[in-house]
Amino acid sequence: MVATHLDTESMHEHVVMKRGVRSGLPIVVAVHSTALGQAIGGCRIAHYPHWRDGLTDALRLSAAMSDKCALAGLPNGGGKTVVALPPGRTLDAAARRAVLHDAGDAIAGLDGAYATGPDVGTGPDDMVTIAGRTPHTFCRPVHAGGSGDSSGHTAVGVLAALHALCAERFGSADLSARSFAVLGLGRVGGHVLRMLADAGATLVAADIDESRRMLADTAGAAWTSPQDCLTADVDVLVPAALGGLLTPHTVPTLRCAAIAGPANNQLDIPATADLLHQHDILWAPDIIVSAGGIIHATAVELHQETSTQATARVQGIADTLADILRTARATGSTPAAAHSRARHRIEHGRR
Ligand code: PHE
Repeated sequence: MVATHLDTESMHEHVVMKRGVRSGLPIVVAVHSTALGQAIGGCRIAHYPHWRDGLTDALRLSAAMSDKCALAGLPNGGGKTVVALPPGRTLDAAARRAVLHDAGDAIAGLDGAYATGPDVGTGPDDMVTIAGRTPHTFCRPVHAGGSGDSSGHTAVGVLAALHALCAERFGSADLSARSFAVLGLGRVGGHVLRMLADAGATLVAADIDESRRMLADTAGAAWTSPQDCLTADVDVLVPAALGGLLTPHTVPTLRCAAIAGPANNQLDIPATADLLHQHDILWAPDIIVSAGGIIHATAVELHQETSTQATARVQGIADTLADILRTARATGSTPAAAHSRARHRIEHGRR
């Protein structure tokens, strides 16, 4: 059958898919929207069963970045770079440099329509390498002229979101009275765990990497398997690893009362938001919760604000989320309505 309706409104503006000339690895740079300004989004280096899965991920992640920027009130659109590694493939220093230069060339070819930053599998030093091929990078180390590692700022935003979430769900923003299951102790998850420990919260934590157990021990968190962490009997689940964990299969097994974390694309499909609502689990959209990194980096690098001013903006995530949660309650809808709000802003920007 021939499609009679192509949804070109939400279609990506530009997607580059290439086999890196130096690395031989599949590289995708997806520019979802520049309606509000330059598209931004991190460079992810991750394993995928097939390069097509990396392409699919890049399309989803870049579209979510458009929503993230719009809801954060930034004059930017969404994009993403994905380097799809075959299962089991590791990168030595030379291979890493080769693939980052390949990615840098792909980004340079977009003439400033998109700028990259760190993401899963990359950090500030990798941005210096990419900057060897294109000036359009965020979050190089401070000594190299950037705003530095964004993960701590993303974590600050997650904490702000957790305060707003707890106020809405439990009637108090006090985190010391609550229990949290932090799933994923990577750069952002590790910071979130420490900050929750400092706030006096009761903690459970997990990561597929056993070596992260030390982080959990230091924070006084009980260590469990990722599976048990997902279904832990806690007040709040904090997804801080890869996305797609909330599905029609997993939601009925959850025992938390609320969910908020920095993992991108937590829902497998949009309808899972309704399922969470039916199970009386209050879900905070990751497009709001995870915005601390881009808010800080753009404030400092594009708008010449001080890090202190930028951090105050990151704290604004609490108000943005509180407003979305309140509106959802008042209208009997779900917080997933944040997506429509974002698209409305983007459409408005286009005109
Ligand atoms: N990877 C983060 C994100 O996608 C952080 C980031 C900061 C990305 C700045 C681009 C620019 O939100």
